[in-house]
Order: sequence, then structure tokens, then C-alpha cells
Amino acid sequence: MKSLLEGKHITICVTGGIAAYKAAALASFLKKKKAEVHIILTKNAARFVSAITFKSLTGNPVITKMFDSSSFIPHISIAQLSDLILVAPATANVIAKAANGIADDMVSTTLLSSTAPKIIVPAMNTAMYENPITQHNLKKLINFGFDVMEPDSGEMACGTSGKGRFPEINRIYGKIIQTLSAKQVTPLSNKKILITAGGTIEDIDPVRYISNRSSGQTAFAFAEAFIATGAKVHIIAGHVSERALDNFTSKFGTNDITMIRSAADMKKAVDENFEECDMLFMCAAVADYKPNYSNHKIKKADGSLSLELSRTEDILQNIKNDSNKIIVGFAAETDNIEEYALKKLEKKNLDFVIANKVCGNESAIGGECSSLILFAKDKKEQIIFPYLPKTENAFKVVEKIGELIKD
Ligand code: C5P
Repeated sequence: MKSLLEGKHITICVTGGIAAYKAAALASFLKKKKAEVHIILTKNAARFVSAITFKSLTGNPVITKMFDSSSFIPHISIAQLSDLILVAPATANVIAKAANGIADDMVSTTLLSSTAPKIIVPAMNTAMYENPITQHNLKKLINFGFDVMEPDSGEMACGTSGKGRFPEINRIYGKIIQTLSAKQVTPLSNKKILITAGGTIEDIDPVRYISNRSSGQTAFAFAEAFIATGAKVHIIAGHVSERALDNFTSKFGTNDITMIRSAADMKKAVDENFEECDMLFMCAAVADYKPNYSNHKIKKADGSLSLELSRTEDILQNIKNDSNKIIVGFAAETDNIEEYALKKLEKKNLDFVIANKVCGNESAIGGECSSLILFAKDKKEQIIFPYLPKTENAFKVVEKIGELIKD
């Protein structure tokens, strides 16, 4: 798959704090995502981690001096070359310099001379971070258009506890995706996508319920793909796997997720948020039937037990789409995939339906991979996405939907 960061020149300015060693892990992570990673080390950072470490990890020469005669790409300065500049870790010192236009070393000079998007990743002792001078400088940087990340809280290298830790790499990766995607114009830029995720839980009694095997992985993969395409997402999530949820929230936080339980809760949440969105992406495996709830735990007895199930409301079919928002439905089928998907497209008045197989070797349910077929309203488009990781297919499908809604 073409990684989002493939071929992107990302420069990490490493400044002199104890968290400098974490920049090595960040450089390695970004390199694995196929970015071209460049490192500028300040004099103090080089005392914590040597240039050789970064050179070995990135495969690129490390810049440590202002006037280095071995300039590695003649005529193109690192400032112009970079698609993105990260200052990670950023000390109070470099933050103060950048906020005040000081350019007395390679890092501060690059920050002043580059028009690339810039992300500041502060990491320092809590007192230094919370000092009003540092806070004032960070606000100045935000006003100048820098992206500034909040540090993590926890135990600090100096033995104290508080805010100032270098963030987890996944969170930095999430910020990189958001920053880069905000700079590109796509048919989905700034579109608001309402995505439903996972299965719903239909309670039988205070201790038992009916649900299904949906993990929410597909929905989270699509949410990430939409974010990477410049869209804004709001996820309404039912019963999802902890792993899938953690993976998403470690990158993008929890602000854009509403957790619900039952099909009725999901309907209410979709109805409440539908007006706000440009596209409803109905990925959830909503229960079709629910039991009649018993307030008391049903006691076991000899013989079998029958549960009477009644229909839940079909959210997609009953949505009032007066303002012609784009509606995307899913069809999870064990057989006759094409026929059922096309019927759904028509019956539920959808713009797109995405069909996937939920049986056999290539079942999409619960696993990491899926094969998908995208059907568009006019039925001329029927695009097959072969069995691949859900994350890869999600990017391809989102790209295709973007192309189709542009026309
Ligand atoms: O009819 P079927 O349940 O197979 O359709 C699947 C599509 O309809 C999915 O997009 C699913 O999220 C949605 N759905 C719904 N409300 C239900 C059941 C399914 O919106 N009660």
C-alpha cells in the first residue's frame, strides 16, 4: 500500500532534553511508514544521543552544524525540502527562540526559514512547562501557525510527577496525519463524516445480552482514512474490541467518539448528529432484533428457554435525508453478495453500498483483512477491492468515494 507518509520529507529537530532518546524511536517509526526522515540535532541534543544513532536509523546524514560544508543535497536547503518539520522533543529554550524569531543555530534558523507545517512536541520538567513564560511562548507559536502538542502527564525523569512527558508515538503520528491532511485539498477536505462502528448490545436481563462479532476495526480504519483525506469524523461506537478502540484513540484521542449500547441508542445518536454531517457512513452491525427486556435475572429451569425477539428500527431506512446528504451503507453477506447489496442500495435509498463477505477464508468479521465491493447509486460503478488489511482497503475506498462525489 502507498503509505500516507511515503516519500514525504519529514525533518525532526531534536533538542537537548532527556527525551531526546525517544526521538530515535520516532525517527525509526516514521522511516517504517516510508517517510524520508531528516534529523537536525542541536549541540545539547547530541550530548544525549549521538548523530550516528540517527544516521543509522534514518539512512540520511544528520545535520549538527550551521555551516556544514558536506551539505547533502546541494542547492536545496532542508527548510525547502521538508514537507513537515517536527521539533521533538522541544525544550523551553527552543520554544522561546522560535517564538521570538531568534535564529542562532540550525534548528532555530530552519524553523524561521521554512514555510513547511511545523509541529512542536514540548517535553520538559513540569515547572518549566507550566512556567507562564513557556506557556506564553507556546501561545505565540500557535498564533504564528505552529501546531503545538500537549505533553503527556506522569512520572518525569527528574523523579517528580506532572505534565511534560514526551507523548506516545501513536499520538504524534495522529497529529502528523492531521497536520499533513489539513494542507492538501481533496474532495473530502473539511467534510463532516458521521461514522457508526461496531455491534450493538441488546439486553435480555440485567446480566445477559445479545450482540454480534463486529469489532469496529473496519469503522476505525475508515475513520482514519477519512481523517487522512482531510475530513472531520464523529464516530458513534457500539460494542467494539478494546484493541481497535485503543489503536484509534491513541492516535486521535476520544473527543470525536460517542459510545452507545443498543440499536435504539445508536438510532438516537445518529438522529441527533445527522443534521450536522455531510455524509453518514453506516458501518455498524446494528442488531436487527432485540429481546423483550426482563428487569429481573431470568432464572434457569429444566428444559429449553425461548426468547421472543422483536424488530429494531432500521436506522438507514428511516433517516430523513431532506438536505441530500451522502449516505453510505454496508452489506455484510455470506452469499449472493452482489444481488443483496444492490437491493439494499435501492431499498435504503443509498448513494453507496460497500459489500463484504462474512464467511469462509476471507470473512471480514472480527479479522484484520477484508475484501470489499463498492456499488454506487447509478450502478455503473462496481469496484472490487481484493482481500487486504482493512486499513489499506479503507484508504482505497475513501479515495474512490472522493473521486465519485467530485464528479
Ligand atoms: O439490511 P441490513 O441490516 O443488511 O443492512 C445493513 C446496513 O444497514 C448497514 O449499513 C447497517 O449499518 C444498517 N442498519 C441500520 N439499522 C439497522 C440494521 C442495519 O441502519 N437496524
